Amino acid sequence: MADIIKIENLTRKFGDFTAVNNISLSIKEGEIFGLLGPNGAGKTTTINMLLTLLIPTSGKIYIDGFELAENHERAKQLMGLMTQETVVEADLTAWQNLDLFAHLYHIPEKEQAKRIYEALQEADLTNFRDKKAGTFSGGMQRRLGLVRAMLQEPKILLLDEPTTGLDVQNRSTMWTRIRELNKKGTTILLTTQYLEEADELCDRLGIIDHGKLIALGTPSEVKRIAGSGKVLEITVNLQDVQKVVSLLKTKFGLNATARTEKITAVLEKDKEDEFASISAMLERQKIPVLSIGLHLPTLDDVFIKLTGAGMRDASGEMQGGRTNIRWR
Ligand SMILES: Nc1ncnc2c1ncn2[C@@H]1O[C@H](COP(=O)(O)OP(=O)(O)O)[C@@H](O)[C@H]1O
Ligand SMILES: [Mg+2]
Repeated sequence: MADIIKIENLTRKFGDFTAVNNISLSIKEGEIFGLLGPNGAGKTTTINMLLTLLIPTSGKIYIDGFELAENHERAKQLMGLMTQETVVEADLTAWQNLDLFAHLYHIPEKEQAKRIYEALQEADLTNFRDKKAGTFSGGMQRRLGLVRAMLQEPKILLLDEPTTGLDVQNRSTMWTRIRELNKKGTTILLTTQYLEEADELCDRLGIIDHGKLIALGTPSEVKRIAGSGKVLEITVNLQDVQKVVSLLKTKFGLNATARTEKITAVLEKDKEDEFASISAMLERQKIPVLSIGLHLPTLDDVFIKLTGAGMRDASGEMQGGRTNIRWR
């Protein structure tokens, strides 16, 4: 399939600081592509360059085969956007919100009412058409934002963290709607901090950290980066962590990573049997084990392997607002 978005060596600096660092990737027509990364990774900066809201420091972007820098207007007509902050007009009703955009997008007068009506249905907001958007829940506002971004029926839809802050229920409703839009033929580029979202929703994904693309592929391809075996996860008391890490290294040759009280190490296929021996060793050493288990690699394991820190640690919100070194 054709590449509808092609990004080549894209870099954006703010002064001395490099927010997006030499990223190259392609998005195929018809796919749902996820840019996964913690807060401050460079996701919004990338989206803003695609929208020509920011000019790249270097690198090129092609939209539908045309170089963006020379074809702003043409490219913009192909792209719909839902920004990170929900920006529905609080004082306008659902209908008025959509009507405003129908005018902005120059949707032909004759078609406007029909499109708006369908959009309200799609967002499951028909009964709320004359209520002010400011009274809506977060999930309802996002749904309104999503159908609003779709009003001009763009070929490409850019969704910047469409589900951040939504509860599980609303998140899964958004996923369903995003899938439906995609089935109608819209290529979707979304950004997310949620591993589960990238894993379940996206055909392909890129992991971005500190402005760099550190992994790219289908979810299962990317997960293979963590290893072909299983991930050993051990939780012990903080004071025992270093001891366990070095025991795993010296006695089993494992390259273990620790973050707070959790230790992870990949057991390649030929080493999976050692799980029992590791358990026994910890018992012999009289180290209290709070939990121990083996699981198939997740995207978080990939992130740990590539960066030494967990995605969940890196993006504060997931740990109930724990202070996060990466937040700037
Ligand atoms: N206009 C700006 N001026 C200076 N630094 C910026 C600006 N915009 C973003 N940054 C910095 O660039 C980095 C990436 O930001 P952003 O793309 O918003 O990350 P994300 O969307 O992944 O959370 C952050 O460290 C942010 O503080
Ligand atoms: Mg952002």
